[in-house]
Amino acid sequence: MNPLQQKIDQVVTLLNETVRDFSPVAFANSLGAEDMVLTDIIDSNRLPIEMFSLDTGRLPQETYDLMQTVRERYQTLLHIYFPDAGRIEAYAAEHGINGFYQSIELRKMCCHIRKVEPLQRALKGKRAWITGIRREQAATRTNLEISSYDNDHRMQKINPLLEWSNAEVWEYLKQNNVPYNKLHDKFYPSIGCAPCTRAITPGEDLRSGRWWWENPETKECGLHVRKVS
Ligand code: ADX
Ligand code: SF4
Repeated sequence: MNPLQQKIDQVVTLLNETVRDFSPVAFANSLGAEDMVLTDIIDSNRLPIEMFSLDTGRLPQETYDLMQTVRERYQTLLHIYFPDAGRIEAYAAEHGINGFYQSIELRKMCCHIRKVEPLQRALKGKRAWITGIRREQAATRTNLEISSYDNDHRMQKINPLLEWSNAEVWEYLKQNNVPYNKLHDKFYPSIGCAPCTRAITPGEDLRSGRWWWENPETKECGLHVRKVS
């Protein structure tokens, strides 16, 4: 069996075990390349896993285009969560609509309003959540486990593609003719909100186009960082 097929089989086994042990389960789908692999695996195996996306209101057009394609191509429904309008209005009034460029605190506050709070709503009532995180992606991700208890959200967190390489992700997408974000063809390996994501040049690390004005150690939006208690 080829090595990629072995890895795919391991993911399917892990997801089946997750459904067996931790239902109801939700998959956080940012529509990035890794998440499209998981979308395809979950859908083609008819796994009873809820799939959702956090629409921050600031996503690139290409991400919205892919959201629509996912709806047309896959049977698994993609639930879309929006931020609380009142909180966005208050932030815009106090700090400006692009206030996140002013400081790390204001950047994190924006991420909290637009992603972290909606994530909490999306995960309500679930016993496990699934992400497309890979170890190689960032300095902040080297010590993660495939399955561990997430204290912040009080449920199991599963990273099925943790040990996949970027090349394996793309081999899967091409082999299975999976739709992907068109920005990936324009040197955007990691895609978040439009104002906080830019293209990278060859040799730069994969997440260097995210919050490019910050240090690598701070570059998490709060979806995946453990709070210091
Ligand atoms: S982030 O924390 O820097 O934004 P990244 O873009 O690397 O995260 O994505 C890591 C994982 O977080 C994704 O595979 C996905 O599971 C989840 N995620 C990130 N952004 C979203 C989003 N907008 N909607 C749903 N899940 C997301
Ligand atoms: Fe706000 Fe930028 Fe965070 Fe998006 S990535 S929520 S625009 S600070």
